[in-house]
Amino acid sequence: MGESRSISETDYFLGLFLLPMSLSLEVSVGKATTIYAINGSAILLPCTFSSCFGFENLYFRWSYNNSDTYRILIDGVVKNEKSDPRVRTKDDDRITLPGSTKEKMNNISILLSDLEFSDTGKYTCFVRNPKEKDLNNSATIFLQVVDKLEEVDNTVTLIILAVVGGVIGLLVCILLLKKLVTFILKKTREKKKECLVSSSGNDNTENGLPGSKAEEKPPTKV
Ligand SMILES: *[C@@H]1O[C@H](CO)[C@@H](O)[C@H](O)[C@H]1NC(C)=O
Ligand SMILES: *[C@@H]1O[C@H](CO)[C@@H](O)[C@H](O)[C@H]1NC(C)=O
Ligand SMILES: *[C@@H]1O[C@H](CO)[C@@H](O)[C@H](O)[C@H]1NC(C)=O
Repeated sequence: MGESRSISETDYFLGLFLLPMSLSLEVSVGKATTIYAINGSAILLPCTFSSCFGFENLYFRWSYNNSDTYRILIDGVVKNEKSDPRVRTKDDDRITLPGSTKEKMNNISILLSDLEFSDTGKYTCFVRNPKEKDLNNSATIFLQVVDKLEEVDNTVTLIILAVVGGVIGLLVCILLLKKLVTFILKKTREKKKECLVSSSGNDNTENGLPGSKAEEKPPTKV
């Protein structure tokens, strides 16, 4: 037991020196910095946390902020790794906590339903861990409520891809065609050479001038 304590203390010591926030208590709202959602629908604002040292009576809070308002949407406490969050205050009935904090899921995402255009703004997920001397951390995600989801970007990308693909295809076709044409030309030239050689050979044996063939024919007919 003494050994494990010394290891964690070393880790903590290193953590304080290197990246005190990211090495111990981490908060993540996923990769997307902006989430788009349609008015009237529901959206999950993701948030998970992790701590190398475990947690006890961890305090969590979701807050909303736009240019002129700041309000706490929901906050509460997670007693330990075996319990789900206990909500202390909730600002809005449209908010629920569908995730679980049991079994290392540490999921304190909120589901925001019946979205209104005024829900557009910054959402911050904040976590404080008494077990780590009240170390805290937070992550922010931007929600944009729209009346319909545009997929213009996608179409533009597809068009660009199609054009690039078409151009490359065309180039390949041109190259192939060029190869084919030079191949055919070479072949016909070779054939012509063969013809010339063979015809000159014939000429030699048959003493032929251009008119000789016409003279040749009557004897075969007879
Ligand atoms: C969303 O907003 C649009 C434009 O204001 C409106 O026509 C539509 O009915 C709204 N949808 C819902 C589900 O509220
Ligand atoms: C809310 O957002 C504004 C603009 O980004 C920022 O200046 C302000 O500090 C934020 N307020 C809080 C309480 O986070
Ligand atoms: C958190 O929980 C919600 C609801 O169950 C789920 O949809 C979401 O995928 C979970 N997020 C993570 C990162 O596990």
